Amino acid sequence: MPSPGKRVTTLDLLEAKRAGRKIVVLTAYDALFAQLLDESGVDIVLVGDSVNTVLAGQDTTLSATLEQMIYHTRMVRAGVRRALVIIDMPFLTYQVSIEEAKRNAGRAMQLTGAQGVKLEGGLAVRDTVRALVDIGIPVMGHVGFTPQSVHALGGSRVQGRGSKAGDRIVADAKALEDAGVFSVVLELMPSPVAARVTQALSIPTIGIGSGPQCDGQVLVLHDMLGLNERFQAKFVKAYANLGEQVRAAVKQFAAEVREGRYPDAAHSFDE
Ligand code: KIV
Repeated sequence: MPSPGKRVTTLDLLEAKRAGRKIVVLTAYDALFAQLLDESGVDIVLVGDSVNTVLAGQDTTLSATLEQMIYHTRMVRAGVRRALVIIDMPFLTYQVSIEEAKRNAGRAMQLTGAQGVKLEGGLAVRDTVRALVDIGIPVMGHVGFTPQSVHALGGSRVQGRGSKAGDRIVADAKALEDAGVFSVVLELMPSPVAARVTQALSIPTIGIGSGPQCDGQVLVLHDMLGLNERFQAKFVKAYANLGEQVRAAVKQFAAEVREGRYPDAAHSFDE
């Protein structure tokens, strides 16, 4: 990764894969958490359209808008000095036509300062990816379970089980590499399929629910901090239990206010 004081670039990620160094990715949606991630040495901060489920309380990512993503990415960018910041392109901002995709992705980059965009799909978005890369927009791919297709896929479920389905994921990822993506997210697939993809590509793979052999790993920050208690999945490891800590702190504050114990002299001003 880059020398101290330098920003992570897409070239650093390629170099990390060549050197066998794992890449660390987390989502963030605001400056405060983004700064904490950056100070902790995360390589990529992804402003995922998961913001629509995690923070906005919606059931899926489908109703996320470009304005919403731009709003959150501007905040994240303000909190980050070192990590690469990637903005997720929401549903229908890149699927309708290549012209619209170029305009929307270009706008997302211009207005936020993000260093790349992420979009979902394999072969189906190959030409769009190539067109974005051709105008200088770094693109991260996303194959396997693609949340914007949740209804078409029959729910949030593991993809690529069985040799034909596994082959399709490998072909999707290869098509994206050929189109010029700098990295690809592999979501919810059997570990051996993710391992095949990782071996087949010279660009880094970033796994989520796809086993240990990917070149890097991503989790949704609020899931791994134990803040997003609505969402339970086998692959999520809780590294903290902030949901419980928040409830305990709020209950203590409420009790102290009700009993007249807060504010005490230490938290009040003399004349
Ligand atoms: O939207 C998101 O947060 C994502 C990651 C989970 C990869 O796409």
